[in-house]
Amino acid sequence: MNKIVVNGGERLFGEVEIGGSKNAALPLLFAGILTGEVCVFSSLPRVSDVLLALEILRALGARIRFVEGGDVCIDYASMRPALPSVCLTGAIRGSVYLLGAMLGRFGKAKLGGAGGCDFGSRPIDQHLMGFAALGAEEYTENGALCLVASEGLSGADITLKMPSVGATCNILMAACAASGRTVIRNAAAEPHVVALCEFLTKAGAQISGKGTDTLTVYGGKSLHGCQITVIPDMIEAGTYLCAAMAAGGRVTVKNVMPSHLGAVLDVLREMGATLTVGKTQITLRAPTRCHAVTVQTGPYPAFPTDLHPQFAALFALGSRTAGEGQMVERVWQDRFRYTEELVKMGASVKISGERATFFPKMLAPAVVRSPDLRGGAALLLAALSVKGRTEITNAATIGRGYEHLETKFRSLGADIRVFG
Ligand code: EPZ
Repeated sequence: MNKIVVNGGERLFGEVEIGGSKNAALPLLFAGILTGEVCVFSSLPRVSDVLLALEILRALGARIRFVEGGDVCIDYASMRPALPSVCLTGAIRGSVYLLGAMLGRFGKAKLGGAGGCDFGSRPIDQHLMGFAALGAEEYTENGALCLVASEGLSGADITLKMPSVGATCNILMAACAASGRTVIRNAAAEPHVVALCEFLTKAGAQISGKGTDTLTVYGGKSLHGCQITVIPDMIEAGTYLCAAMAAGGRVTVKNVMPSHLGAVLDVLREMGATLTVGKTQITLRAPTRCHAVTVQTGPYPAFPTDLHPQFAALFALGSRTAGEGQMVERVWQDRFRYTEELVKMGASVKISGERATFFPKMLAPAVVRSPDLRGGAALLLAALSVKGRTEITNAATIGRGYEHLETKFRSLGADIRVFG
């Protein structure tokens, strides 16, 4: 997928099935390394980031089988602690999980570089602080980051500077191999972190505190293979609900866990949406006009940063939102690049520090470039709402996290075409 063309202006009606969560799938796939056995993954989303993670595992010796019915069967037994090509690992952020998993399985790990959306710097100092506390030494070799636990890993009491999702998952994996007790304080509690705790527990790890800011692991036991179903993608679900607000209409998202979207549903109601919330589905009826609100992102259960650009696009749409919406980004230092592309469509925005204020304007179709995964989704939502032909280039960034995008939006009545 390298270009998306949208003839916008149509309201959306119908229902879409939400897929497995990309941000849950990535730590799970790498955590399987710890078992050294066969693991079966159900509802694994075939988005490019996940397919690339499978390539990385295959390059390190894992044997991967796609069974009919959609499960993915991975035999981790024959993996070896080699340095994967940076062409692979440098493309996704998820490759950073190789560090915790390889360190836990082999007592050593090497990484030429991880990728991920560009929000300014993406440090991993908290990951490394945790590994050092567990007894790993860090060094570089030919530009690659290397870790080795020559004396093995031992449990430690670790406090994170911020509730980092990646650091929590990475340290959790290594802690499962560390003898004794590890406590991770100020841990992230996102649903995908809980999912990782559940997977590791199923594989034989002893973990308590999942869903809280303090995780306790009694490590050192070997883990065994198991089956896991990837949880639904709350960000994909939120994106489709926001699309219904941007284009107008009535959309049902199926295969969701409403409890993961509490803060998002609150904002949607505040903006005037009528929501019918079932056990595993949510129906949204969009208002004629949305009320402008102020949204502040933060660690779960706060409003998720990965829905910031999509809702900001809604604020920018003068045809849909009345009043000035504000987006306060408290997680990433620079997540506002998508606004430059919205301005090409006529948006009016003032950014000062972590706050962006949107002055709703009638937007016009344009040729815009997706800056990153969720910024691209924001441009798509704006394009759906605006009458006329909008072209979104660099659309592969959107394919990183949204599966069957064209099919799903076309089933809702959108005139959208994906090219390349
Ligand atoms: C994960 O990134 C997600 N990516 C991101 O989603 C998401 O935005 C983020 O969590 C927050 O929810 C994946 O899961 C693959 P963090 P991650 O460590 O783990 C700082 C998407 O759109 N920090 O929770 O990299 C960091 O700079 C992507 O799907 C340090 O300073 O995020 C940031 O300001 C985009 N040092 C904050 O913490 C560290 O060692 C949160 O980062 C680690 C993080």
